[in-house]
Amino acid sequence: MKIYKISHLAVIATLAIGVFSCSEKSTAQSVNKVTLKEAYADKFLVGATLGASMFTTPNHPSLALAKENFSAITLDNDMKWERINPLPGKFNFEIADKFAQLGVDENIATVGHVLFWHSQTPDWVFKDDEGNLLTREALLDRMRERAKMFASRYGDRIKIWDVVNEAIEDDGSLRKSLYNQIIGDDFIEQAFIIADQEMPKDATLIYNDYGMNRVGRRDTVLAMVKGFQQKGVRIDGIGLQGHWGMVNPTAEIIDTTLTLYAATGLPLHITELDVDFLGRDNFGANVDIKKLKATPENNPYPDGNVPPEAEAKFAKRYTEIFQQFLKHHDSIDRVTFWGVTDGDSWLNSWPLEGRTNFPLLFKRDGSTKQAHDNVIALVK
Ligand code: XIL
Repeated sequence: MKIYKISHLAVIATLAIGVFSCSEKSTAQSVNKVTLKEAYADKFLVGATLGASMFTTPNHPSLALAKENFSAITLDNDMKWERINPLPGKFNFEIADKFAQLGVDENIATVGHVLFWHSQTPDWVFKDDEGNLLTREALLDRMRERAKMFASRYGDRIKIWDVVNEAIEDDGSLRKSLYNQIIGDDFIEQAFIIADQEMPKDATLIYNDYGMNRVGRRDTVLAMVKGFQQKGVRIDGIGLQGHWGMVNPTAEIIDTTLTLYAATGLPLHITELDVDFLGRDNFGANVDIKKLKATPENNPYPDGNVPPEAEAKFAKRYTEIFQQFLKHHDSIDRVTFWGVTDGDSWLNSWPLEGRTNFPLLFKRDGSTKQAHDNVIALVK
């Protein structure tokens, strides 16, 4: 495992303090419990995603939980192009600055999410002053400016970067994003060349995508990585988002997927793990999905109380997932959850608004679930 700032000694010391004493920062639930980051300290970093409100609301409980339980953090939205640079020349650094500093103050590895993604990127990025699409060179210049901005402001503190997100479709074809339309089929390669030139040499540069087990996307990613390695284009890690369901991908498929990606020799990062407890199979890829309403059928526990048998099923699912992560821990550098508690999760409003979902290891009140304890028990 590559060590991102956190020395083993520091983790062991924290472990000792966490287990044997009651430090001021500890919440009641953790006093006698080993935390996720402690349990997995010699396996891989265990991360969580933080949202802006955790930095703007005084004493946000999820922020305290994040400091206590996780060894890596990612920002869910506030480094995306539309947030940090919504208009030409206008920058909102407030949240990202606090995030980067938190990593330093708490000795937590920080992840920059994300340099180049088709979504949550304002239209102006792709257009000139007259509203015409940019030329290839002009867009590459604009991408370089963004990489330079991140490198100069955060390069000394943020050492893991999602360089390109979701540029490959399920069937393995290249997504016809504006990046692809303007730059061409070498968009991903150009993005990594820019990142290599502009970001610090000790940064980890990642390609990140969802559905990385799907054969089409998987084979394209594997071929791309091989091509980069043969040509000498720097890529330092493969990011599997891990927005998974209660059944799929199966343990067997996770096993095969991790085996194949590990064979590239690159470290693997599970970047956005959550398990969609309520499911989304019936919603498919319907783009109108957000117009649908939560109903008793697709939102069975609106009051937030999940029956014990459902909790047990959920715990079993996380157990089989982490069994695979442990099996492949030599190849995995980090497992990050997309959120801290269920209340923070984007799955309460995606793929349709207004559900009460339960995808993470901490309940809305910050208490731990059986799934959390099972995941820790696996490494004891
Ligand atoms: C999500 C955020 O969590 C939401 O708040 C936002 O509305 C949409 O984006 N894949 C990614 C993440 O790479 O950036 C997405 O985050 C979730 C899917």
